[in-house]
Amino acid sequence: MLVVVHEDYGAMSKKGAEIIASRIRRKPNLVLGLATGSTPVGLYKEIIRLHKSEGLDFSKVITFNLDEYIGIPPEHDQSYHYFMRENLFKDININPSNVHVPHAMFGDLNISSFETDPKIVQFCEWYENEIKKYGGIDIQVLGIGGNGHIAFNEPGSSLGSRTRIKTLTEKTVKDNSRFFKSVKEVPRYAITMGVGTIMEARELLLLANGDGKADAVKAAVEGPITAMCPASALQLHQKAIILTDKKAAAKLSAEFVTYG
Ligand code: F6R
Repeated sequence: MLVVVHEDYGAMSKKGAEIIASRIRRKPNLVLGLATGSTPVGLYKEIIRLHKSEGLDFSKVITFNLDEYIGIPPEHDQSYHYFMRENLFKDININPSNVHVPHAMFGDLNISSFETDPKIVQFCEWYENEIKKYGGIDIQVLGIGGNGHIAFNEPGSSLGSRTRIKTLTEKTVKDNSRFFKSVKEVPRYAITMGVGTIMEARELLLLANGDGKADAVKAAVEGPITAMCPASALQLHQKAIILTDKKAAAKLSAEFVTYG
């Protein structure tokens, strides 16, 4: 695991974009795993800049997003479909048929049995098979939750888990309520790639910035590998890069850190 600390959010985002651009130049039909949330917004802006000013070509790139809230239509301004369109896809030359964001409109769900709901189970299997069909994810972009989650794999998620429905913890609901009019509007369930699915990507690129991530970054990098901090699974990955700003790295011991 390589942890590279940057002066600020801008430098971290630029480095992340350079890494992705280098992978696309090496393999034009790269299978690129994407994340949403505030962390990768700067990364996506920089990628757009590279597309517009340096001709970074997305025409053959295939994308898979990590997750989507259940019950929010794709046109809703807090859906991850909408986020990806607005923050990246509308400004690059990606082929819409190469884009995969988990589907999340399953109609009425019985909350007591949704984990076995055939519509959801079938969708999750399809998503996993689709990733396999394209040969697996080459590089997966990740953020990290203040509680150590990756995608919507909340603390306690099996480190071998696959794409499935998950209930969001109160902390995540509260953290994400900043994007909604009120906490009541935040969805309680999401479809998410599992930790096991994520770990199969050939390379992982986790970004973290701000004080609010310092404890989670420390636990992920220096703590025990445990389902209570799903991001700690990255310690087992052969090619995991963590890019941070100074604030998110503030609690790391010196021996774990290199400077970008
Ligand atoms: C989003 C996702 C989440 C976020 C995490 C951090 O697709 O997978 O795990 O990466 O919640 O969110 P931000 O970046 O908003 O702090």
